[in-house]
Amino acid sequence: MVEKGGYVRDILALAPGAEATARGWVKTRTEFPAHYFVKVSDGSSFADLQLLVEKDAIDEATMAQVTTGACVEASGVIVPSAGKEQPTDLKVSRLAVHGAADPATYYLQKKRMNLETLREIAHFRTRTNTFGAVFRVRNRLAFAVHEFFQSRGFMLVHSPIITASDAEGAGQMFQVTTFDIGAPPRDGGGEVDFGQDFFGRPSHLTVSGQLEAEIFALAFTNVYTFGPTFRAENSNTARHLAEFWMIEPEMAFCDLDGDKALAEDFLKFIIEAVMRDCQRDLEFFQQFYDKQLIPTLENVVANRFEQITYTEAVELITGAKKKWEYPVRWGTDLQSEHERFLTEEVFRKPVVVTGYPKEIKAFYMRENDDGRTVRAMDVLAPRIGEIIGGSQREDRLEVLERKVAEQCATHGTDPEAYRWYLELRKYGGVEHSGFGLGFERMMMYLTGMSNIRDVIPFPRYPGHADF
Ligand code: 4AD
Ligand code: MG
Repeated sequence: MVEKGGYVRDILALAPGAEATARGWVKTRTEFPAHYFVKVSDGSSFADLQLLVEKDAIDEATMAQVTTGACVEASGVIVPSAGKEQPTDLKVSRLAVHGAADPATYYLQKKRMNLETLREIAHFRTRTNTFGAVFRVRNRLAFAVHEFFQSRGFMLVHSPIITASDAEGAGQMFQVTTFDIGAPPRDGGGEVDFGQDFFGRPSHLTVSGQLEAEIFALAFTNVYTFGPTFRAENSNTARHLAEFWMIEPEMAFCDLDGDKALAEDFLKFIIEAVMRDCQRDLEFFQQFYDKQLIPTLENVVANRFEQITYTEAVELITGAKKKWEYPVRWGTDLQSEHERFLTEEVFRKPVVVTGYPKEIKAFYMRENDDGRTVRAMDVLAPRIGEIIGGSQREDRLEVLERKVAEQCATHGTDPEAYRWYLELRKYGGVEHSGFGLGFERMMMYLTGMSNIRDVIPFPRYPGHADF
C-alpha cells in the first residue's frame, strides 16, 4: 500500500515492509561511503523520518540538491533502522526535490542556534526542533481551550478588534485612523476633527474583549472570547508583547469564588491536555529549556492552588528578609519579583491573590464594602508571575457611573463610549464575573521558554513588527 503524501507522524508508525511516500523539508543529511541518511520533517511530529538513500539508487545530481532546508518527496519501503534513534527508516527508491535550498546562503545550520538569531529569521525558525515543538504545543493548547469551554456549555464570542472604548482604562491603546497623520482635518479650535475620521470618532485596537463579552454573558449566560489584543505599553520585557492572544470567559450568576474555581479547573484541564498529547515535545523542552518542567506541571495539576489576599501577600513580602528592587507597602502594585517570590519561594505553586486595593485595579471591578479593595483575582505562576487577571464586575449602576467618569477624566476619553456598558447595569443586570488568561504567558509556562517572543509566531514588541 502506498501512503500517498502521508504525514511523517503516520509513516513513522508503519511496520517494516510497508511502502510510503514522505514529503517534507530536510533537517540534516549525512554521507557514508555507500549511502546517505537524510532526516526529513513535515512538522507533524517531533521525530523526523530518516531516509536511507543508497548511492546506486538515486543519481548524484539529485542528491546534490538534498541539503538542509530543501523540500523533498521520497518514496520507498519501510525497513528496520540501522541507527538507534528511531526504529525504522524509509529506504528510498524514488526521490524528487521540489525546492532546493542553497547551502551557501541558507540560514539554518546543523548546530544549535540561539533564540535571538532565530527571531530575526521567523520565516525559517519554524523548521527547527524548538519551534516545531513550540507551535505544536500552541496548536494543542488552543484546541484544549475550546474543548474546555465547549464541554461546559460556554458560547464562543468574536469580540471586535477595533473599538472606541478602553476596556482596561489604562490608556495603552494603538490608534486606528485613515487620516494623513501629517495633516489631519482640524476643527475651528485647531483640534484634530475625529468626526471626519473613518469611524467618525477616535478608534483603537482593543486591549481586551471583556466589555463586549459582558454584553453576551447577559444574554447567553456563559461565554468566552479568544482573540488578539493589543497594548501600546512600552515594556520591553520577556513577558510583554504589543500583540498577544487572550482567552476571556465571562459568566452571569457568578461571583468571585465561582470565578476562582473556574480559573483553577481551566488551567488544570489545558495543562493535562497538552501533557497527554504533546509528551515528546514537552520532554524536549525539559531536556533543553527547563529541567523541572514535567514534574512542575504534574505538581500543578495534582494540587490545589494557594489562596491568599493581597494584604497577606504584602505581609509576606515585607516580612521577608530580602532586598527588593521595588519596595512594597499596602497600596502598591506587586511587581514580578514579588510574584515570583510568592510562587517560587513561599508556596512553590500557583497562587491566587484576591482583594487588591481599588486604586491599582481597573474601573470595572466590584468594590468591596470596606471601601478600599475590589473583588479582583490574579493567578500567579512560578517563573511567569501573573498569568490570569480577573474579577467580579461592578454591577451597581451608581458606583460604576462614578468610576467611569473618573477614568475618562484621567485619560481624556469620551464617557459616551461607555454608555452601553452602563446600560447593562440598568436593564437586567446581575452579578457576573470573568477573567483573562494571557495565551502566550500560558505557553511560556507549558514549554519552559523564558522569552514570550519565542512562543508566538510573529512577535510584536517595541521596534519590531517584521513579517
Ligand atoms: O490583567 P489583564 O490586563 O486583564 C484584562 O485584560 C481583563 N479584561 C481580563 C478579564 O477579566 N476579562 O490581562 C489578562 C492577562 C494577564 O494576566 C496576562 O497573562 C496577559 O493577559 N497579558 C499580557 N500578555 C502578554 N503581553 C502583554 N502585554 C500582556 N498584558 C496582559
Ligand atoms: Mg492584570
